[in-house]
Amino acid sequence: MSMKQQLLKKIQSRKAVVGIVGLGYVGLPLMLRFSEVGFRVIGFDIDPAKVKALNAGKSYIEHIRAEHIARARKAGFEATADFSRAGEADALILCVPTPLNKYREPDLSFIVATIESLVPHLRKGQVVSLESTTYPGTTDEEVKPRIEARGLEVGEDIFLVFSPEREDPGNPDFTTRTIPKVCGGVTPACQEVGVALYGAVIDRVVQVSSTRAAEMTKLLENIHRAVNIGLVNEMKIVADRMGIDIHEVIRAAATKPFGFVPYYPGPGLGGHCIPIDPFYLTWKAREYGVHTRFIELAGEVNASMPDYVVAKVAAALNEQEKAIKASRILVLGIAYKRNVDDMRESPSVVLMEKLRALGAAVDYSDPHIPVFPRLREHKFDLKSVALTAKSLASYDCVLLATDHARFDYDMIRRHAKLIVDSRGKYLEADAHIVKA
Ligand SMILES: NC(=O)c1ccc[n+]([C@@H]2O[C@H](COP(=O)([O-])OP(=O)(O)OC[C@H]3O[C@@H](n4cnc5c(N)ncnc54)[C@H](O)[C@@H]3O)[C@@H](O)[C@H]2O)c1
Repeated sequence: MSMKQQLLKKIQSRKAVVGIVGLGYVGLPLMLRFSEVGFRVIGFDIDPAKVKALNAGKSYIEHIRAEHIARARKAGFEATADFSRAGEADALILCVPTPLNKYREPDLSFIVATIESLVPHLRKGQVVSLESTTYPGTTDEEVKPRIEARGLEVGEDIFLVFSPEREDPGNPDFTTRTIPKVCGGVTPACQEVGVALYGAVIDRVVQVSSTRAAEMTKLLENIHRAVNIGLVNEMKIVADRMGIDIHEVIRAAATKPFGFVPYYPGPGLGGHCIPIDPFYLTWKAREYGVHTRFIELAGEVNASMPDYVVAKVAAALNEQEKAIKASRILVLGIAYKRNVDDMRESPSVVLMEKLRALGAAVDYSDPHIPVFPRLREHKFDLKSVALTAKSLASYDCVLLATDHARFDYDMIRRHAKLIVDSRGKYLEADAHIVKA
């Protein structure tokens, strides 16, 4: 039997051992799904705290329940920081971060570090899948040569695919199983193995002809969002000047049964994906002499939104004969989007920084984030303020930045002196509510 046939057989019989490398927002749900279906899963992560928590059956992500981790543990899942165990896995799925560096260029150091720590332990008969969002060519140019340098032939000894993660954290309508998964292999044999692997746990695997096409698919999805969010943010500014409520307009437009997809304006872009991924393509496109104007323009509009919101806060306070300086401002919601505890790239933090720099005394309230965490670039020594009639009334301005469902919007309306709403939560006009 060829390597490929042996591996396919192991996958079909669920005897294959699955290694998930990088146990974060992407890796953990995938681990749970493989475990649930009956595969033995080994999780690899360089963060010893995560390894320890998982082995104790604990979760460190709010929307992933500890009991699910504990159930996976009982089913044989274990986490480790020991990459020499990579040889035990028949499949290795890489879910490590792909941020931008300080020049806003792709930072592939996590992918490169991961593949370099795995390579010495690779063996014939394994499938390697990269899931991290990245520019077209990464699998071919960065992963494949490092594997081949070990003397393993891709497509014969090792099967290599790119299969982008799609996740909408906090959205209960979709699960890892029901979100169709795109997969592209380096060779047809790689593709066959990749499709079998994901087909074992996901209802629908969408095949594309190459790893580059799979990499580009993910970027198109995220660029589509970034550009359309940029568009509605610009529309919001125009509508505001014209005295029109953009949210009313979007709701009306969304009744069109074809050809329109609603996107919602906000205080800026957040999260690990939408503000970052488009610039992976921008960077790579330069190699081909192409300038990605839509991406740059959307980036410019989206990045300017916190300043727009701050200007609205200043104008609203001005109406009350106050300045931002020395005002007490409470920011509601510091996660980057509603109902999650993820603060990566959160525009709320940018707003807090800007308001503090202008002399405001800034506090925050977020039911998902009780203590302001230690972040590399931002330092706030704060705890989430409990929302009561008294606490709300003590602030000069309450700035709604992230519209968590857990906020009591009626109470906020009744007791805040001034509300600046950057999420279109308060649709009815009210003298003390300003739309931003
Ligand atoms: N979060 C999402 O909703 C989402 C959705 C789609 C795609 N993605 C993409 O998926 C990738 C992972 O994102 P995430 O949100 O899961 O990130 P994350 O930061 O939550 O998790 C990454 C994990 O990788 C670990 N890690 C870092 N370097 C490592 C190494 N050398 N070896 C092993 N583990 C290592 C980290 O400790 C961390 O636990 C990124 O490329 C991201 O763009 C994320």
